[in-house]
Amino acid sequence: MATFLVIVTTILLTIWIVWICSHSRKRQTGEPPLVTGWLPFIGVTLDYAANPLGFLRETQKKYGHVFTCKIARKYFTFVTDPFSFSAVVRQSKNLDFQKFAVGFSHRVFGHADFSSLLFSESYREVHSIFRQTLQGPSLQQLTETMLGNLQMVLERGLPYEHNWLEEGLQSFTNRIMFEAGFLTLFGKDARFLHADERICMQKAVQDFLTFDRAFPILAAGVPIGLCAQAWRAREALAEELLHDKLHHRKCISDLIQRRMDAFNRMHLDEIGKARTHVCMLWASQANTLPAAFWSLYYTLRSVDAFTAARTEVNKVLSGQLTSNQDQTIYLSREQLDSMAVLESIIQEALRLSSASIMIRVASDDFTLTLDSGQTAAIRKGDYIALYPQLIHLDPEIYPNPTEFKYDRFLDDNGQRKNNFFKNERRLKHFLLPFGSGVSECPGRFFCST
Ligand code: HEM
Repeated sequence: MATFLVIVTTILLTIWIVWICSHSRKRQTGEPPLVTGWLPFIGVTLDYAANPLGFLRETQKKYGHVFTCKIARKYFTFVTDPFSFSAVVRQSKNLDFQKFAVGFSHRVFGHADFSSLLFSESYREVHSIFRQTLQGPSLQQLTETMLGNLQMVLERGLPYEHNWLEEGLQSFTNRIMFEAGFLTLFGKDARFLHADERICMQKAVQDFLTFDRAFPILAAGVPIGLCAQAWRAREALAEELLHDKLHHRKCISDLIQRRMDAFNRMHLDEIGKARTHVCMLWASQANTLPAAFWSLYYTLRSVDAFTAARTEVNKVLSGQLTSNQDQTIYLSREQLDSMAVLESIIQEALRLSSASIMIRVASDDFTLTLDSGQTAAIRKGDYIALYPQLIHLDPEIYPNPTEFKYDRFLDDNGQRKNNFFKNERRLKHFLLPFGSGVSECPGRFFCST
């Protein structure tokens, strides 16, 4: 019996190995080097997930500026030469962002599949709302509302005279930024000053953080149904964003109001509409909370940064603060634009902390020509990935790259600096926390202000 089992197991194992070998992808002429790792299905997923920057640097050293890796059962071609980023960003004919983003969002947020024929046309209109409401003339209104909400949330949380409370910096920035951002986009409930609304907001922050913590594994392809906590948190957020509830809120931003109208015209079901709002909530908060935390953290740890920031803020606010301590602060576009030190601090914090990845899907077989003239044959359906942290932490571009230098983005005259070099060549893409090209974050002007 035991011999029989050994023979059957050996035969099955052999069939499996032969199947894997015959079905595994082979590098073809003109294609970038293929890095598959030694594990059949997961490829180099574990090495990449453990330390993406370290893994990409090592692989770049071994294989050069362009290589294809098997990660989470997909093939990703990484382009690591910063001068070739434009070559990828410009390829909107062969490289599709929406297909990847919409499919991903459908899977993680559980809303309708906007890439289906039924919705794809109307979704184009929904997508254009981002740029119409987060940039240009609408931006001033949004910024004013955010500034007012920030002050309101901060003042409301101030301790009474001898009643100081202690709170960690991260918890503080998460709480303040989440609530101010939420109220700015989704408006205020009539009970927003009452204790029960504050409890609701505290629960929303916790749900958001629970969902956000699961995001890396959801992004790696794990179905949300297997992440019970994340699923419950997402549904609890959606519950708060049902149109029935939103109708009771005042001062809803133009962005959300127009999305609500568009989703009504598309006849989505009510929970589906609410889940698209969770997606918008996530896009607006997921990067903003860490950016606020790291900017404050680095500033508070550096006496020079703190002094320079305070001097700049005092200069801009001098007129307003001396006249009335309780007055709501108002900042014009020009005043915001004049704050080069604060901008440099935020850029430096984003350079050090942001670890986004830019992904496109090849809509056809095509040949990508890099800046050096080298070509890479790309297969339809493969992903092309750019990893900005390779630039952000490159010692040739940013000397002592892991050090926080509050004035790194200022020139000798204290003005904004935008000339950075590698191999003595000026870089077009030297800071990409907001992505680039068609997928560039439409909220970038809002968060910079
Ligand atoms: C420091 C804060 C922020 C950072 C670092 C950031 C960064 C990013 C990045 C890297 C992307 C994806 C780009 C790509 O894949 O190439 C993105 C997309 C997006 N961001 Fe932001 N973001 C921030 C804040 C915001 C805010 C405040 C909003 C809205 C109020 C927003 C709305 C969006 C939207 C809607 C998208 C998807 C764009 C699309 O599908 O075309 N972001 N953001």
